[in-house]
Amino acid sequence: MLMQQRMFNLPPVIHFGPGVSKNVGKIALEYGAKKVFFIYDKALGEMPKGIAKILKDDGLEVLEFNEIVPNPPEEMMEAAAKIGRDANVDLVLAVGGGSTIDTAKGVKVLLTNPAPLYQYFGMGTVKNPTPPLIAIPTTSGTGSEVTSMTIITSPKNSRKYAVGGRHVPCEAAIADPELLIPLPAPVTASTGMDALTHAIEAYTCKLATPISDIFAIKAIELISNSLVKATYDGENLEARSDMLMGSLMAGVAFDNAMVALTHSIAHPLSARCGLGHGAANAAVLPYVMEYNAPVCPERTIDVGVAMGLNLQSLSREEACKKVVDAIFDLNKTLKIPTLKEAGVQKSVFKDIVNDAMTYEPPTQFNPRKVTAADVLAILEKAY
Ligand SMILES: NC(=O)c1ccc[n+]([C@@H]2O[C@H](COP(=O)([O-])OP(=O)(O)OC[C@H]3O[C@@H](n4cnc5c(N)ncnc54)[C@H](O)[C@@H]3O)[C@@H](O)[C@H]2O)c1
Ligand SMILES: [Fe+2]
Repeated sequence: MLMQQRMFNLPPVIHFGPGVSKNVGKIALEYGAKKVFFIYDKALGEMPKGIAKILKDDGLEVLEFNEIVPNPPEEMMEAAAKIGRDANVDLVLAVGGGSTIDTAKGVKVLLTNPAPLYQYFGMGTVKNPTPPLIAIPTTSGTGSEVTSMTIITSPKNSRKYAVGGRHVPCEAAIADPELLIPLPAPVTASTGMDALTHAIEAYTCKLATPISDIFAIKAIELISNSLVKATYDGENLEARSDMLMGSLMAGVAFDNAMVALTHSIAHPLSARCGLGHGAANAAVLPYVMEYNAPVCPERTIDVGVAMGLNLQSLSREEACKKVVDAIFDLNKTLKIPTLKEAGVQKSVFKDIVNDAMTYEPPTQFNPRKVTAADVLAILEKAY
């Protein structure tokens, strides 16, 4: 395989395992922190109080922000950053799902770079070095704790956009599967499907490399073995641990290989119709795989093998169909709503097709060349 010139992002320091979040204060001190900007999701109940106590017991000053909104809007990030800047915080700690971690990444950028965030749209556009960020994920979905981008929603433009590069990612990720135990079944299911989508799109998209492949295939194996168990037996620590490792590995995979058409359709579904990111991806994923399979049958079959399917003695077409059917079945088992069930109106399809074709960067990485008519057909099927 002759590689084009490429750069590989490898993840921050990862502290992984049950109970590891109790070391958060010591880890913050390793970065010379004195005043921590503690950004967390209110939905976590009492748990953040315990984290704040650990920080204070370790002699750290703590400033809290918890007004997190899913699909985090730029205004919220800018408001939070102003609070942190005025208080001279020197380290950011995020505890929550992708929405919280992405908010903290936006804040980290704005602590040392002027607002508005939109001017940094793209990769490598943030100029000034930023203070350290530690993330503790409480969903096993986005992998944001190990990726070099933040996904920001611009409500006034009905769009999501990415800001990425070397000054954006976390310095450390603390991945503690015990914190995932309270995650409700529907959120476990939809965020887990986001992680599976990352791994499948990273493995089948145009920018896949031998490094991203290793992470993607192992992630597919871990996630497909544990997602149903983690959803319906939430206290199963082994399943929670495999989901957390799988989502993290999928994050490394797509940080290097990018995602593809499923995400190009899911982003405008979230920005225009308010769908959760995971649910939007899950509703569209099997249709995009069905559409892509004719141009990447071997890789589609590899996905099936990693999922544990027996594809021996099947033709290539039959094997690909079996892989796609397995994703349909998974969606059914996880009770993922169709676009119609999720409240999407068909009248928005035209805008979503337009966004996916003209604005969404992942479309160019899709293995099959995409037309507007193809996107519309996928949306009609997923309805
Ligand atoms: N930066 C990246 O690399 C990257 C990658 C993929 C997606 N994203 C972005 O991440 C966001 C989605 O993040 P997400 O899927 O993790 O969901 P989320 O952070 O929006 O959380 C989903 C819901 O679950 C709740 N929740 C989270 N943890 C919980 C817990 N332990 N117990 C109970 N409730 C809990 C939240 O309050 C929220 O209502 C989207 O904006 C998406 O675009 C970012
Ligand atoms: Fe995603």
